[in-house]
Amino acid sequence: MPMQKTSIQKPINSDLWQTLWLNVNLATMTDGANSYGIIEQGALAIADGKIAWLGAESDLPAYDINKVTVIDGQGCWLTPGLIDCHTHLVYGGNRANEFELRLQGASYQEIAQAGGGIVSTVAATRTATEKELFDAALPRITALFEQGVSTIEIKSGYGLNTETEVKMLKVAGLLAQALPVTVKRTFLGAHALPVEYKDRADDYIELVCQQMLPEVAKQNLADAVDVFCEGIGFNLQQTEQVFTTAKNLALPIKVHAEQLSNLGGSELAASYQALSADHIEFLDEAGIKAMSAAGTTAVLLPGAFYFLRETQVPPIALLRKHGVAMAIATDANPGSSPIHSLQLMLNMACTLFQLTPVEALAGVTCFGAKALGLSETKGQLALGYDADFALWNISQPAELCYQFGVNPLNTLIINGVTVLNNTNSGELIR
Ligand code: NIG
Ligand code: FE
Repeated sequence: MPMQKTSIQKPINSDLWQTLWLNVNLATMTDGANSYGIIEQGALAIADGKIAWLGAESDLPAYDINKVTVIDGQGCWLTPGLIDCHTHLVYGGNRANEFELRLQGASYQEIAQAGGGIVSTVAATRTATEKELFDAALPRITALFEQGVSTIEIKSGYGLNTETEVKMLKVAGLLAQALPVTVKRTFLGAHALPVEYKDRADDYIELVCQQMLPEVAKQNLADAVDVFCEGIGFNLQQTEQVFTTAKNLALPIKVHAEQLSNLGGSELAASYQALSADHIEFLDEAGIKAMSAAGTTAVLLPGAFYFLRETQVPPIALLRKHGVAMAIATDANPGSSPIHSLQLMLNMACTLFQLTPVEALAGVTCFGAKALGLSETKGQLALGYDADFALWNISQPAELCYQFGVNPLNTLIINGVTVLNNTNSGELIR
């Protein structure tokens, strides 16, 4: 799956460079999942938070050593900053008790139908204060950040009333202020049916469309709208009502679909030019063709697959065949994926879904960006792109997927600024 070529940017004159990284190997990820886009013994220059020049060191144009801060990357690898394009990391409480129940034989659906699952997190999230939610979420987002994540999506969906959905999205905004990470917020009011709307799903969807979504849009709290289209979520008709409302508010859509059964939510979402359809273990070829035609990204969530001990593997071969871009994310949440490591997801995407390491890395860089509508600015090392990149202590890109448990991140740069430096390497030359 190649990347769509965007307008070719011109290099920025070296007089305007502020920082220059030398002695690095680049995995540019400009070629989608086809190749790492490797430039060995390369260099990368930054001006005004953007990538101003990149290429082989031997092609470096003349620059004034007195004007540019030059950093020796000591032969490390540079990739785009990682993108976790699907998380639910703002929530109250936890569901370790349900983990125990599932290990004793109860299924995720049975727990949800018995009043546990998402709605139990809703109860804990409604009673939590903004500060409590922020304090609980900070270590989760920090764990991702410390492993090289520069952009993250955070969904609401544990409020299920206007007040708490707004509270969750505001907390996501506060996290964006606390860390230099770029945060994209997604409104997921149609995540589950709250207890006060028992047997009245249509009425709840009315509330989502008439009150919640307009309020969220008015306060500018969301960049996209998501729906859980599933037997234990919402049916196709209810899902479409939310999509129509989102479209009228000019908000792009995403969908949780085909996770536990095949309702056709991905196909419906594709007909609304969805940014992504996520989970998709039970997706069929008709849905895949619709996604391919619409340019909808498939977001694979190996953490939820693993944690729910799912056995139905997403249709990877068909996604490849029809050229659907595949992104990988943590789905960090208390019920189906209490996992806060994109590195572990890279490994699981390869071991559980048989993605190649280059496909997996594309899934957390260029295609993670695509799933968030950020293809033009993030997820690639390319001229004019945001200077979001990670320097890794690895000897080849596949190592990012291969090992787990040792943090290989050396340095993280976001918008051209060094925001994390884990070692003493990356020494300043001047
Ligand atoms: O992406 N599938 C629906 N939503 C979440 C799970 C939420 C939960 O169980 O709390 C998911 O897996
Ligand atoms: Fe999810």
